[in-house]
Amino acid sequence: MKIGILDSGVGGFSVLREIHSLLPGSPIHYVADSSWCPYGNKPGDVIRDRVARLADYLLSEGTEILVIACNSATIHAVGSLRATYPLPVVGMEPAVKPAAELTRSGVVGVLATEASIAGEKFHQLVNTHAQGIRVITRPCPRFVELVEAGILSGPEADAAVQEALAPLLEAGADVFVLGCTHYPFLRPVIEARAPENISIIDTGPAVARRVASLISDPSDLHKESSEIHIETTGNPDPLKILLAKLLPGIQTTTGSATIS
Ligand code: DGL
Repeated sequence: MKIGILDSGVGGFSVLREIHSLLPGSPIHYVADSSWCPYGNKPGDVIRDRVARLADYLLSEGTEILVIACNSATIHAVGSLRATYPLPVVGMEPAVKPAAELTRSGVVGVLATEASIAGEKFHQLVNTHAQGIRVITRPCPRFVELVEAGILSGPEADAAVQEALAPLLEAGADVFVLGCTHYPFLRPVIEARAPENISIIDTGPAVARRVASLISDPSDLHKESSEIHIETTGNPDPLKILLAKLLPGIQTTTGSATIS
């Protein structure tokens, strides 16, 4: 089954790599909405309408399972996408519930975009699953800029991570939720800056398991690697350099998507 994946940019590659590793035989069509990146500073209704255009495009190209590899887009658009399209739509939200179950200090830090944190769905998650837990939210727009620029380590990445984590550590958080798909690419820097007792949660592997559970043909799990086609709504030139950094060892084809 053809899996369509979308994100504001290259962050969703952190989900793509998990899906491909579980389902190497499933063809993937990924659209990076680079000309609109970032989503994190945009109002929810703008994100919702834009994501609908991307979904229309992926469906017109034969997508059979749609993966919203973007927390911000899921928070604001997954409900309307599920109501509109007659196919499975897999989304992802900041992992508040697992974090609340895991914390021993009673304080969790959620790193996510401003758009995700402002969303009604995010507030519902906290109210439903984190009663009695202190949830500290922290938008990290700089992380998205760094990953989009292919900067995954070094002094700039280190400074951004240190600044983001300081208030969470000060408050006693012992679980960090990577609530934006760009952030897992900075996980090694985050791990290096966090004390050993900190747990870090990335939702990518759970999303991949959910997608695998929807695949009706079990041979997709074992087949030779299928085509992974990556398109961008922005400039395709930087994409090739980013692919080598973010998806090393994974064969892809690239192209441009014109989505008005
Ligand atoms: N990767 C996205 C997310 O998971 C959005 C990042 C952005 O464009 O601000 O929320």
